Amino acid sequence: MAVFRILALLLISSCYVSTPSSATSDGFLQCLWEKIPGELIYTQGASNFTDVLVSSIRNPKFFTNTTVRPLCIVTPTDASHVQAAVRCGRVNGVRLRVRSGGHDYEGLSYRSERPEVFAVVDLANLRAVTVSADEWVPTAWVDSGATLGELYYTIAKNNSGIAFPAGICPTIGVGGHFSGGGIGMMMRRFGLSIDNVLDAKLVNANGDLVDRAAMGEDLFWAIRGGGGESFGIVVSWKVSLVKVPSTVTAFNIAKTLDQGAIDVLIKWQDVGPTLPSDITIRVIIQGQRAVFQSLYLGTCGDLVPTLSTLFPELGMTSADCLEMTWLQSAVFFNTWNPNAPVESLLIRNTSLSTFTKNKSDYVRRSIPKGAWKNIFPWLTMNGAGMMILEPHGGFIGTIPTEATPYPHRSGVLYNVQYIAFWSGNDGDSVATSWISNFYSFMGQYVSSSRREAYVNYRDLDIGENVVVNDVSTFDSGRVWGEKYFAGNYQRLAAVKGAVDPTDYFRNEQSIPPLLQSN
Ligand code: FDA
Repeated sequence: MAVFRILALLLISSCYVSTPSSATSDGFLQCLWEKIPGELIYTQGASNFTDVLVSSIRNPKFFTNTTVRPLCIVTPTDASHVQAAVRCGRVNGVRLRVRSGGHDYEGLSYRSERPEVFAVVDLANLRAVTVSADEWVPTAWVDSGATLGELYYTIAKNNSGIAFPAGICPTIGVGGHFSGGGIGMMMRRFGLSIDNVLDAKLVNANGDLVDRAAMGEDLFWAIRGGGGESFGIVVSWKVSLVKVPSTVTAFNIAKTLDQGAIDVLIKWQDVGPTLPSDITIRVIIQGQRAVFQSLYLGTCGDLVPTLSTLFPELGMTSADCLEMTWLQSAVFFNTWNPNAPVESLLIRNTSLSTFTKNKSDYVRRSIPKGAWKNIFPWLTMNGAGMMILEPHGGFIGTIPTEATPYPHRSGVLYNVQYIAFWSGNDGDSVATSWISNFYSFMGQYVSSSRREAYVNYRDLDIGENVVVNDVSTFDSGRVWGEKYFAGNYQRLAAVKGAVDPTDYFRNEQSIPPLLQSN
């Protein structure tokens, strides 16, 4: 293995040309051992290295014999350990990948696409959530290694009248999620997660620990949605919390094609983004069925007349209502079981059984009925997965495009996520061909002048950085970066150029530095 690694390193000359020799790897490890307690460092030879590596891998696709694995994993219990890892890495020319919850769709937080020597800083031990519920605007400090489930649970146990707008899967890590946006069931009312971040503590490329005041507004802007890894390691975030009623209402209403799913979808495209912002109805399409899944921040008695007036095609009645607390709704949207215990939000581990590939789009003009008739057959093809449609509009659409790096605001009707899944290597080619062909087919119906994508639904098919003279090039980043960030890409690259001009924090889709010479 060691011989293979050295040979591979010699052969790879176009990318990552400064990959360190084993001498610098040794120097890096020595430096870590001097500065960080040894029990927090797992080298490849350690008996529990694989257990730690796999602990938050969600996609078995990135846990194979050929996956490029880290030289070691550092598991800080204090911000000073993160600083030490960065400083040791800089001095010895070893790059770091940072992992919070490990949900990156391309596994970039713990593996490299290209042969290189790197270490992982795994923040799972840094996961405190400190809630200040009694302030006029309630706030919380949350460490990056906390999961969304831990955040939701801790907030609600402090005060059931407050909550936080973020994603649906409770095992997602705060660190990666906040770095890319944070789409969820309350975004139409309160915005994305990043729209509610007030401050952050970041270890920058010099190894300094800086807060908002010390990092400056440009860098603070960039870390709220500019994608993980690029600007440093965010150790913790201060967020403003939102007020929720004691009772919320959820429902799942399924419509098959025979039950008029397409007509309901046609109406949903207009209504979903324009409903009052305290109603969110997302759509999950699989096979010949569309499930309309909703959260309303209020009671059933108020929701039924509103939907009867604004969205009668859905046929929603009080029999569909599931009234519960907001915390219970967080469990419901993950499990589809209204009675699952709220403590299940604290479970961090998931099984390594499902292989997935994800892609995304944004729709700005309703897709016509005839087109939906052509789309549905794709969902019964060999290898077919599913589509999830997340309505925008409401508060999220009122925030200016440049306010954060997330540009998909005014005019967006909904986000589309395509998911292919399979259970083992055998299904790989059928499912991945399906998603790739389906994505090409959908090009005619989605945002067309420039195709858009969501950075938190990371997709390396849309482009990867090219490294020249040991720096990722601005132009190679533009190919994928303008899909994720539109006009904000250039500003992100300028911030990167100012704070990390030598491109220390990088991966296959990190923001390249825009330097004077570019
Ligand atoms: P992970 O640790 O893999 O990090 C992701 C990226 O961020 C990597 O590039 C990593 O290096 C970087 N990073 C991590 N921590 C960092 C830190 N502290 N500082 C700087 N960079 C850091 N999204 C959404 O918006 N709404 C949703 O409902 C869902 N649902 C969902 C379900 C499932 C099953 C999956 C697998 C994913 C989602 N997502 C999602 C996407 C999710 O938001 C996205 O993958 C996040 O980046 C995951 O964050 P983690 O910390 O878990 O990932």
